[in-house]
Amino acid sequence: MPGIVIVGAQWGDEGKGKVTDLLAEHADLVIRFQGGNNAGHTIVRNGEEFKFHLIPSGILYPGKACAIGNGVVIDPQVLLGEIEGMKRRGVDVGGLKISANAHLIMPYHVLLDSAGEAKLGKLRIGTTRRGIGPCYADKAARLGIRVQDLLDEAILRKKIMAALEPKRHVLRPHAKHPALDLHAMTDEYVTYGHRLEPHITDTALLCHETLEEGGTVVFEGAQGTMLDIDHGTYPFVTSSNPVAGAACVGAGVGPKAIDEVWGVAKAYVTRVGEGPFPTELADDIGRHLLERGHEYGTTTGRQRRCGWLDLVALRYAARVNGLTGLVVTKLDVLSGIDPLRVCTRYRHGEGAVFDDFPYHQSILHSAEAVSEELPGFEDDISECRTIADLPPAARDYLAYVSNFVGVPVKLVGVGPGRDQVIWADGERPLRVAA
Ligand code: IMP
Repeated sequence: MPGIVIVGAQWGDEGKGKVTDLLAEHADLVIRFQGGNNAGHTIVRNGEEFKFHLIPSGILYPGKACAIGNGVVIDPQVLLGEIEGMKRRGVDVGGLKISANAHLIMPYHVLLDSAGEAKLGKLRIGTTRRGIGPCYADKAARLGIRVQDLLDEAILRKKIMAALEPKRHVLRPHAKHPALDLHAMTDEYVTYGHRLEPHITDTALLCHETLEEGGTVVFEGAQGTMLDIDHGTYPFVTSSNPVAGAACVGAGVGPKAIDEVWGVAKAYVTRVGEGPFPTELADDIGRHLLERGHEYGTTTGRQRRCGWLDLVALRYAARVNGLTGLVVTKLDVLSGIDPLRVCTRYRHGEGAVFDDFPYHQSILHSAEAVSEELPGFEDDISECRTIADLPPAARDYLAYVSNFVGVPVKLVGVGPGRDQVIWADGERPLRVAA
């Protein structure tokens, strides 16, 4: 299994970080391929808590090669904050590699993100306001600043000037903002370049060489399928492609490099930000999921919207990602809810029924979830370590999900701890690399 992609199969926050961390232990390289510091996850190691927004969690294994691929957008100040934070805590960050082709989030991107949201008013996306959308917009407009530009002051200044020019009008209210001064910004980013230089490299080549040598590469996705700019609930999406196909583009490998694609899904669903959410629960069960699941964002601290598991959306995610395995996280949060419900189709206001995820935005906005009732379980399952340890209703729930989606369950999360997982095949899938 040399190339394995980990993607979110819902609206993000599915617990991808923990899965990547578990697989990273036996991998030779972990590489992020899209998104930026809109993502976030917490890893607990030896009782110590580590929060990551950009650095792949594999960095906690001494000497592990961890790369930030060309498809990622990097806020260098945030990245340097993470690097310094690690160093202060004695973590060896020597294995961190940063693509020279990755785009940089600039101070004006952050300002534009907030200004855009304010202007949209009630129609806002609910972005993380980290400048992600404006940065990807500049990338597509060929006005982006890349990591490699940090290494040449003259080029950097010219590129910032060119990028600022078409934004003058929108940025006028911030004209006196010190962070927008061309020379101050160039100086600041040149300093970032000096500090990041030891990590800057051709990460696509690194991926290629690792795979050529028979090593294992984990491609770490951020956000989730339903936030994908092409396949998600547009326009309430992020500005990149969290689907598995983007691993090739965002890391610089061909499709043949991918052997497995695992989709991570919670046993229920959460969503932050605005946009359609057919199975959302505004009742006591929704509050139970919120509190038991500690559903507050790692990046913005926002309360997440909670709802029943949406199998229409999950089957769609299985299809557009080509999932070969399913990881079901937070199954323990469902204990004590009886009966359980899962959404198996949508009903539209005019009586139409949808078995497949509807492509039309208006239909999705007014779609009502049609659900099946499944027996719940009372038992605390946090100590279960094999599928056989689970109460029959929990096993049946997993089987129902797996059959409906047509993808085998590989891993189940039964608590926040690193060891609170069940490997469905009884053993870890990745062999220790030579
Ligand atoms: P942006 O990525 O900051 O532009 O935000 C666009 C949408 O994606 C908003 O609804 C955000 O809440 C959502 N989003 C972005 N990153 C994440 C994430 O890591 N987890 C969950 N939602 C996210």
